[in-house]
Amino acid sequence: MKRESGSTLTAWMNHVKLPSTHPLGENVTCDVCVVGAGIAGLTTAYLLAKEGKRVVVLDSKEIGGGETSRTTAHLSNALDERYTNLIKTFGKESARLACQSHAQAIDKIEEIAKAESIDCDFVRVDGYLFANNREEEENLLQELEAVQQIGWADVVLRKKSPVGTLTALPCLQFPNQGRIHAMKYLAGLAQAFLNLGGKIFTDSHVIDFQPGMVTTAVTTTGHAVSANHMVVATNTPVNHRFQIHTKQAPYRTYAIGVQIPANSVEDALYWDTQDPYHYIRLQKNTTSEEQYDLLIVGGEDHKTGQHNHPIECFQELIRWTRLKFPMAEDVLYQWSGQVFEPVDGLAYIGRDPSHGENTFIATGDSGHGMTHGTIAGMLITDLIMSRPNAWEKLYDPSRSGLKAAGTFIKENMNVAAQIKDYLTSGDVGNPMQVMPGTGKIIRKGASKVAVYCDQDGIRHQCSAICPHLGCVVSWNSVESSWDCPCHGSRFDPFGKVITGPTKHDLGPAE
Ligand SMILES: Cc1cc2nc3c(=O)[nH]c(=O)nc-3n(C[C@H](O)[C@H](O)[C@H](O)COP(=O)(O)OP(=O)(O)OC[C@H]3O[C@@H](n4cnc5c(N)ncnc54)[C@H](O)[C@@H]3O)c2cc1C
Ligand code: FES
Repeated sequence: MKRESGSTLTAWMNHVKLPSTHPLGENVTCDVCVVGAGIAGLTTAYLLAKEGKRVVVLDSKEIGGGETSRTTAHLSNALDERYTNLIKTFGKESARLACQSHAQAIDKIEEIAKAESIDCDFVRVDGYLFANNREEEENLLQELEAVQQIGWADVVLRKKSPVGTLTALPCLQFPNQGRIHAMKYLAGLAQAFLNLGGKIFTDSHVIDFQPGMVTTAVTTTGHAVSANHMVVATNTPVNHRFQIHTKQAPYRTYAIGVQIPANSVEDALYWDTQDPYHYIRLQKNTTSEEQYDLLIVGGEDHKTGQHNHPIECFQELIRWTRLKFPMAEDVLYQWSGQVFEPVDGLAYIGRDPSHGENTFIATGDSGHGMTHGTIAGMLITDLIMSRPNAWEKLYDPSRSGLKAAGTFIKENMNVAAQIKDYLTSGDVGNPMQVMPGTGKIIRKGASKVAVYCDQDGIRHQCSAICPHLGCVVSWNSVESSWDCPCHGSRFDPFGKVITGPTKHDLGPAE
């Protein structure tokens, strides 16, 4: 394992060799167009190509250039939402189906990796949900009862955690979970898809979707892919302005990779029950001379665009890790990413409620995007092949957010509260107060302007108003990006869009 040089923000999965791809340079017709080359898009594309469909994948960036390259890749059906809550929201049978779907997603990843000989460090491990205090211990007991109610019989309460320093209280042990190197898997999946005759066009940003019997995705260069079916797997749907975005909320999450002596921590997945919770796994040595393992710890989630000093999230994560894992040595990696939390805890996968029968979406990944993305592949393939699928209703994107009314109202009140940003003064009074390498919002008359000062001291200005639904963006000093606090659109320092829901850049400064 080599220490990364230079950047303090380095994800542990970088440097995987990807199949070679290029931008869309012509108009193409096919059976299915998939927009998004992350886990959801590529799993769907691969499974449809296996069914004999002619499939084209488009992506703004490179393969895995979205959140899939930032994941910590726990593969788990011990869902964060907890079965206690899922039973309350959806009922016992649906909670059982949710559990089954994530378990089958892990099986599917294992099956594909084996069938396509993808060397991606897939390992079956147990998962441990641990309590930090008596109240959390009580929650564990309730969760045990809930998993028993849905028929998951081999989850057990253990008196002690396998890592003594983690907690002195009991923990729940979930068998047959998994871990994987997501980018090695994705690179192999992409290659397997190409081998089946599929096509992937990268650097191909879609700016327009034209629904209809034949549905079309148009890229910024004016080239188009026309297909009988469209799958929008862009993490958050970029073909929607409103509907889905009221039912999920964007959160930033942080992860670090810490060196620990080899074999000092049992190879397993670990989660606590705090809010926000911590998620921990191991990446074991892959070569025999290595003296240490990599402990990957994540957490410190907060609403996107709503933390003034996000660097503190890393500091807190490191502090917590050293407390719980005293054997932790150097921090080798640290990175952040974005997850979309659906208000009722389950992803939205299936027919797009507002774009006709032949458009499909996969979103609302939460902390289970690797399995939700794989479920998307299986479910959308069945829908396009006109086959029944037991999970269709459970993940139906048109289901009401009011099933989880409390969270739905809380998240939408939070969005409404961002309107205050129109009325406040800026972060600073004028552009000259913006220091090199940073960004600040200034007020110019009635409007707000995002000012970025580059390392040479040149100030770049663009509108601070998000083109999605008009909230005011805020500076993310960890990622050097402008992040929208309402539905999670993100932009680079010069205003170029990185992440939807918007497809558009920030406008010129008024
Ligand atoms: C730090 C972190 C830890 C995580 N840990 C876990 C974990 O342990 N287990 C787990 O299951 N999940 C985890 N997740 C969640 C999981 O990684 C993600 O949910 C999942 O990778 C999302 O996959 P996706 O295919 O939906 O989206 P992405 O991987 O983001 O892919 C979407 C693609 O769409 C492209 N795109 C967007 N807009 C356009 C457009 N207009 N035109 C063309 N292309 C476009 C993007 O470039 C991108 O490549 C974690 C996430 C983070 C950030
Ligand atoms: S993402 Fe919706 S207003 Fe910015």
